[in-house]
Amino acid sequence: MLKKTFAGTAALAASLLASTFAGAQSAPAVLTLHADQPTRAVSPSLYGLMTEEINYSYDGGLYAEMVRNRTFRGDWSGILYWNLVEDGDAAAKMTLDEHTGPSAALSSSLRLDVTRADAHSAAGILNIGYWGMALKPNSAYEGSFYSKTSATDLGPVTVSLVSDTTGKTLATTTVATLSADWKHYKFTLKTGTIEPSSTNHLVLTVAHPGSVWFNLVSLFPPTYHNRANGNRIDLMEKLAAMHPAFLRFPGGNYLEGNRIPERFDWKKTIGPLVDRPTHPGPWGYHSDDGMGLLEFLEWCEDLKMDPLLAVYAGYSLGGDHVKAGPDLEPYIQDALDEIEYITGGPDTKWGAERIKDGHPAPFKLTYVEIGNEDWLDRSGSYEERYPPFYKAIKAKYPNLQLIATAPVKSAHVEVLDEHFYVHATDNFHDATHYDKTDRNGPKIFVGEWATRQGFPTPDFGAALGDAAWMTGLERNSDIVVMAAYAPLLVRVDPGGMQWETNLIGYNAAKSYGSPAYYAQVLFAQYVGDHVLASSVQNAGDKFFYSATSSAGMKKIYLKLINGSSDPQPVQINLAGSKVASSAKLVSLTAHNPQETNSIDAPDRIVPVESTLHNVSSQFNHALPPYAIQVIEFDVQ
Ligand code: AHR
Repeated sequence: MLKKTFAGTAALAASLLASTFAGAQSAPAVLTLHADQPTRAVSPSLYGLMTEEINYSYDGGLYAEMVRNRTFRGDWSGILYWNLVEDGDAAAKMTLDEHTGPSAALSSSLRLDVTRADAHSAAGILNIGYWGMALKPNSAYEGSFYSKTSATDLGPVTVSLVSDTTGKTLATTTVATLSADWKHYKFTLKTGTIEPSSTNHLVLTVAHPGSVWFNLVSLFPPTYHNRANGNRIDLMEKLAAMHPAFLRFPGGNYLEGNRIPERFDWKKTIGPLVDRPTHPGPWGYHSDDGMGLLEFLEWCEDLKMDPLLAVYAGYSLGGDHVKAGPDLEPYIQDALDEIEYITGGPDTKWGAERIKDGHPAPFKLTYVEIGNEDWLDRSGSYEERYPPFYKAIKAKYPNLQLIATAPVKSAHVEVLDEHFYVHATDNFHDATHYDKTDRNGPKIFVGEWATRQGFPTPDFGAALGDAAWMTGLERNSDIVVMAAYAPLLVRVDPGGMQWETNLIGYNAAKSYGSPAYYAQVLFAQYVGDHVLASSVQNAGDKFFYSATSSAGMKKIYLKLINGSSDPQPVQINLAGSKVASSAKLVSLTAHNPQETNSIDAPDRIVPVESTLHNVSSQFNHALPPYAIQVIEFDVQ
């Protein structure tokens, strides 16, 4: 992640430093840190992740499934992203069959009627994947499907991965003769010494006439921690590098759905995939629900994050809400059951269900959020909906911290979720937002925030706005207990983005971090457990900083941000402690605010590490134009 030797960026940093000295202002800013004076605590869970199904974050994103519309529910036709295969003389037809499926949840299927086919003229179906299917050499792809046939002599199903561009078969296998009843068939496709590519598709064919039905056609590449039904390795590694303390899920709007029946109905997202009915998401596409409640929790487990569960609170985006009282009670019970599924033992109904689903150990749960952005509910019903959730959850789980999504007068609010989507200049002006917030009020969870400049991912100007804002979060982390950038993920292929400005971009084969991503990485990686007393004079109005120190005062982390096109010289005074004469400097810089990373230029702006020499209790530092820097001092 951190590039110590990235030549282009190192050269850029050097040239910017040179220009700093050349154009340095006569009077530097004077920044004094009192290394022996810890002030406010920094919350250990300050930096986390916010996530939901948007921009193909899970399907076509983190969730590694390669088959698109695997349950034939993607649109009204059912067969979106599926094509018919009629090799040579073969003749066949594919339709959506609403009358048969492998389970009550998946009660329809794709029906393939083959009227003519033989060993040389196969008939079947193909799936084009999520903007292709990425294949690597010498890799195993684990697949499966549910199927049945009406023909006794249909023969085996041949499953292959085929290149779109050359038509060459890159991996192939056969699946034994199908039965007359719905059954689950598994297969493995192994590539040989192929070139990596993502212009490939999956083909399933037969060589005899007959009718055959398919559902839940699935194919997975190797996944993070080798989990079955798991996540993309490259994306999980990028998330791990953010040192996230928590994961807020399942939304966002995705929690609420456009209409009440389209909410994230967690009970329909657990257990075998075949028992998950899938559902329409609020961002214009259908969710296959492979990323269900247990998968979210296992994602937390893999990255050592605490789950921050948002429970549906009776309001959906279209404006409908459930009236407080008897109508709301089933939803409150659903939330209690959900918490029990996560934390309960074998003696509880839903804890036992989780164990049946393959996870014996309960998960640690500290925070539960009641709803999402309920200030959008113009009826004001959150005032009545929040208290019964609060009361019921607290009665059963007194240790849980409950988060409200809008100010409420009718009940106690322990933590309030506040969202900010702004421009860089707003953050420059608002970096002091929480400096004067009442310390006796609720704790704050900044559950969604971002500087929205640049798409599909933020540019360096946005990263500067973010960094300025984060200095304010760190400085006020005694009340801002958690914060999460949003949205986190975006598919960069055409049609993949529903929301501009997202932290990490990807296509089928690769992913990249935006400049704002690297700002997040730096802020979370280099942070102490308390804020140091400090003062600054003579700084430009686009200069921001945060100074924290770690337990035992062994490290000081100084973050410096210069949002200006001019260099910012700084005289740094380190009072109260002696520090080592050299320090680690990490720099994230750009030539102008519009400069950015992309899928084809992923490393244009990345952190560069170097060593600061001649550090003493008073030394001069040259902060280049457009720069986010961290200095890590060792206290002696
Ligand atoms: O992050 C994108 C959306 O912004 C979230 O779904 C919603 O909570 C907010 O309005």
